[in-house]
Amino acid sequence: MEYLIKQYPLETGALEIQYIEEFFGEFPRKKTAHEIAKRLQGREYLILIAEAPLPDDPGMVAPVSFKVVHELREFEDDPRLQDLVSRLRDSIKFEGRNVLYSWIGGTRRDWRGQGHFRALTEETEAWAHTSGFHEVVVKTKNRFYDMRGTLDQLEFNVIKYEVHPTDNRESKVYLSKQLTSDVLNAHTSTRTVVYAD
Ligand SMILES: CC(C)(COP(=O)(O)OP(=O)(O)OC[C@H]1O[C@@H](n2cnc3c(N)ncnc32)[C@H](O)[C@@H]1OP(=O)(O)O)[C@@H](O)C(=O)NCCC(=O)NCCS
Repeated sequence: MEYLIKQYPLETGALEIQYIEEFFGEFPRKKTAHEIAKRLQGREYLILIAEAPLPDDPGMVAPVSFKVVHELREFEDDPRLQDLVSRLRDSIKFEGRNVLYSWIGGTRRDWRGQGHFRALTEETEAWAHTSGFHEVVVKTKNRFYDMRGTLDQLEFNVIKYEVHPTDNRESKVYLSKQLTSDVLNAHTSTRTVVYAD
């Protein structure tokens, strides 16, 4: 199977992600286009959306999976990113290295298990390697079992675990992957990438 991926610029991409999160209606933290654009402005980022044919109308394609990644610097202005960096500092080396943060992503329920998220992840890794990133880091929670299982299959390594004081299901799990050429050589998906306006 060949996966169809669209790469978006900032403004249109932010609107598309807002739409997808509203439309899917199943992702825990819905982001506004404004919030997305504000986060990505002035840094390297990648907004990818996978499209697939609708089962009852195969001539039509719809967005089914998405992923947004961005550069994470050692010294950030945004308090949320400052907090993230401070939590990661003992697990990741920032100095002299380019670190990518896998911020948000997901696949619509009816299209899960078909490889769309692997395709988006592999495309991200290929782009990140070419763009000079050394490592990609992601944060999830104990209770996001689908995401944890997927990150396991995608060979992300746990680098930190933060126990929640009262509910262990809410405990945070940080994972990362070194972006070596071996990682790229292990990719299995075939992808067509088009650029949206
Ligand atoms: C996690 C999620 C993105 C996976 O998307 P997907 O398109 O179904 O993933 P893929 O089909 O590309 O699967 C990629 C790999 O993960 C594996 N995988 C997918 N779902 C899995 C699960 N629930 N448990 C274990 N492995 C899983 C697949 O078998 C595949 O492995 P392989 O390529 O080695 O065979 C999707 O389930 C989702 O959107 N979940 C809700 C999002 C969420 O939990 N958000 C919380 C914030 S972190």
